Amino acid sequence: MDAPKEIFLKDYTKPDYYFETVDLSFSLGEEKTIVSSLIKVSPRVQGSSAPLVLDGHDLKLLSVKVEGKLLKEGDYQLDSRHLTLPSLPAKESFVLEIDTEIYPHKNTSLDGLYKSSGNFCTQCEAEGFRKITFYQDRPDIMAKYTCRVEADKSLYPVLLSNGNLISQGDIEGGRHFALWEDPFKKPCYLFALVAGQLASRDDTFTTRSGREVSLKIWTPAEDLPKTAHAMYSLKAAMKWDEDVFGLEYDLDLFNIVAVPDFNMGAMENKSLNIFNSKLVLASPETATDADYAAILGVIGHEYFHNWTGNRVTCRDWFQLSLKEGLTVFRDQEFSSDMGSRTVKRIADVSKLRIYQFPQDAGPMAHPVRPHSYIKMDNFYTGKFLFAKGAEVVRMYKTLLGSEGFRKGIDLYFQRHDEQAVTCEDFFAAMRDANSADFANFLQWYSQAGTPVVKVASSYNAEARTFSLKFSQEIPPTPGQPTKEATFIPVVVGLLDSSGKDITLSSVYHDGTLQTISSSSTILRVTKKEEEFVFSDIAERPVPSLFRGFSAPVRVETDLSDDDLFFLLAHDSDEFNRWEAGQVLARKLMLNLVSDFQQNRPLVLNPKFIQGLGSVLSDSTLDKEFIAKAITLPGEGEIMDMMAVADPDAVHAVRKFVRKQLASELKTELLKIVENNRSTEAYVFDHPNMARRALKNTALAYLASLEDPSYVELALSEYKLATNLTDQFAALAALAQNRGKTRDNVLADFYNKWQGDYLVVNKWFLLQSSSDIPGNVENVTKLLDHPAFDLRNPNKAMNFHAKDGSGYKFLGDIVVQLDKINPQVASRMVSAFSRWKRYDETRQALAKAQLEMIMSANGLSENVFEIASKSLAA
Ligand code: TRP
Ligand code: ZN
Repeated sequence: MDAPKEIFLKDYTKPDYYFETVDLSFSLGEEKTIVSSLIKVSPRVQGSSAPLVLDGHDLKLLSVKVEGKLLKEGDYQLDSRHLTLPSLPAKESFVLEIDTEIYPHKNTSLDGLYKSSGNFCTQCEAEGFRKITFYQDRPDIMAKYTCRVEADKSLYPVLLSNGNLISQGDIEGGRHFALWEDPFKKPCYLFALVAGQLASRDDTFTTRSGREVSLKIWTPAEDLPKTAHAMYSLKAAMKWDEDVFGLEYDLDLFNIVAVPDFNMGAMENKSLNIFNSKLVLASPETATDADYAAILGVIGHEYFHNWTGNRVTCRDWFQLSLKEGLTVFRDQEFSSDMGSRTVKRIADVSKLRIYQFPQDAGPMAHPVRPHSYIKMDNFYTGKFLFAKGAEVVRMYKTLLGSEGFRKGIDLYFQRHDEQAVTCEDFFAAMRDANSADFANFLQWYSQAGTPVVKVASSYNAEARTFSLKFSQEIPPTPGQPTKEATFIPVVVGLLDSSGKDITLSSVYHDGTLQTISSSSTILRVTKKEEEFVFSDIAERPVPSLFRGFSAPVRVETDLSDDDLFFLLAHDSDEFNRWEAGQVLARKLMLNLVSDFQQNRPLVLNPKFIQGLGSVLSDSTLDKEFIAKAITLPGEGEIMDMMAVADPDAVHAVRKFVRKQLASELKTELLKIVENNRSTEAYVFDHPNMARRALKNTALAYLASLEDPSYVELALSEYKLATNLTDQFAALAALAQNRGKTRDNVLADFYNKWQGDYLVVNKWFLLQSSSDIPGNVENVTKLLDHPAFDLRNPNKAMNFHAKDGSGYKFLGDIVVQLDKINPQVASRMVSAFSRWKRYDETRQALAKAQLEMIMSANGLSENVFEIASKSLAA
């Protein structure tokens, strides 16, 4: 293998040749597939003598023709990654024809054309199209495609590609064909093909301008009953995009295909979305509320890409956030509107803290728009990667308001429809549509790391003024030792002593007095240090800062515990009520961690119990909000705040606090379980989901006590459950503690569900992510389980090691898996990336595994990039 090469944003150059039309033809076969492409090529500059360099990977070249003339071997150059055509006709345009042979049945990377459960399917983002045919595999090459697919009719009765079906028919030898035409220009990463034995759930959607769109969700016939929720989600998404963004679907047909083997969640190929089955198939008995919500969000996400990603796409892969940040923002808003806005915001911010902040502080830290990469795929690995890009989009909306934001979006489409553009183009549309001053906002795109914002407050009783002093600091990240100040919108409200919002009248900042008259305002923090002074404040207020999490930063305030308890009880911003509880919990847990480390007895502050207790019994609050508010920050979040992460101490402390809360609040918790049961048929709506979430959170608390009566209670919940949400929650509650009950109920669950691989995956995941002592051994055993298959990404476990055996376990899996599927292997190696945060013994053990991985033969670029950057950090 050539040494992996780093690619830089600053090296971007326009392509020397554009492709106008691409006619593809696939002859699918069991042993080999022949791909013919006919491309109309035009030089960017007339009379250019530049060579045309095509990407290609794992392809067998059969022939190349230019203007119908077969090229001889000396007329082109071929290496393991490229086909180069040095001399081309000096014409306005010419025709290029290439035939290649590929072997989809041998493709285990699930990238390019491959087989899943006997069906053919494709995945081309980011750079999979080069595994199908020689092409300029870059998103700024946008062309109109036709695609003819030919295959055995009995094995592959359904033949799908992008766009509209133009013709189909039988041909000799028991084969048949379908010809597809996509009227919209697209980059090749949006190309898709599916062939196989599939049935469809059919429906229609009439757009607001009257276009009747045929909707089809394809799965194996036996799974069709499980596609009702996906269809509901698709129709809801189509309607929502019209209502909120004025965006309408642009073709007469929209296909979704569910496949069991898929590297990620789903893919937005033009009019032919391909999904990991787990994000399509759902029934009350086999999917949880979380699955139902994920399906809604991801169906929405891929559908929304039709405009944000497909109609307007990225100039290059450095601009990924242009489509992903924006589309994640859109799916978050969609889910908010379909359920509870506060609860959705809490869930999204939690994910940001669990996945994004640690990444921002590790060796793979990169700006929203990276400056370089070795393997583009690595920017998709790890969950919820685009969270920060979505936050950046959200800040535009915060600053401009809904209407201003919509104006910006409208201008963006007016300017850039059917173009491949950059993050600056989006910024410019937002700015120009609103004549806005965004100061140093663009820093968000180029600086890595999570800003830390400190806030100091002071009240002057005589002058009746209240001052907030902000300072910001962005920690150094690899390659970026120093940072500039960035534009941080801070949404603020001030609470009076009765807990009500004070009506703000004016704020003084930077020599100007700004009048306001509302209960909350946006402060534009743009410098390293600056002060804002509110006037006419009659008493010392409690500030509610960063309402709704108005910027993706870490906040350190001088608020006292009393202030925080006050906000928890009174803030009109529900998000900040939750946040106050979390800040209190983090502080308290960190203090307990140091007690634990110094062998001091652990004692839980009674005020904390009381604070959570009053949230628990506040019947005016949303039930899912209560469930979130009584859930402690995760272990990772606490470790993230420590100089040296101490997994044992954090684990012990979190367990202690949970048990303590459970024991002190058991009467209330029990009441909650009892009052929130239901034997009615499963309904996916916010009130029912909220009820189940609260009940199951309470049940888990109770079961943590290991008291026989609560174990009995959880067992009976398990047995009586009429849907998977309740049943799986009871299972998880029981699986917290080692012992016979755990073993029995896990065995019972497997027996019941062994025929449903999606449910079995959950069963695997519950055990692999368990924190019971000695779990490495348990999980090692599971690898030999008949249902375990390393090749299917859904089953590969995300196992974060605690001791040497866990690291070794993970290291071995990475090396094995890299040969099968580099994208998934590199996702797993990321678990090692923050090895330097742990104690010396752990560091040595983890480092040894990283070195072992680096020395493996034939390492992929994917794993190389993560492992080498982790070691170098
Ligand atoms: N664009 C896809 C989405 O928005 C994500 C994606 C990128 C992906 N690369 C992929 C999905 C590779 C599957 C495989 O959901
Ligand atoms: Zn996406």
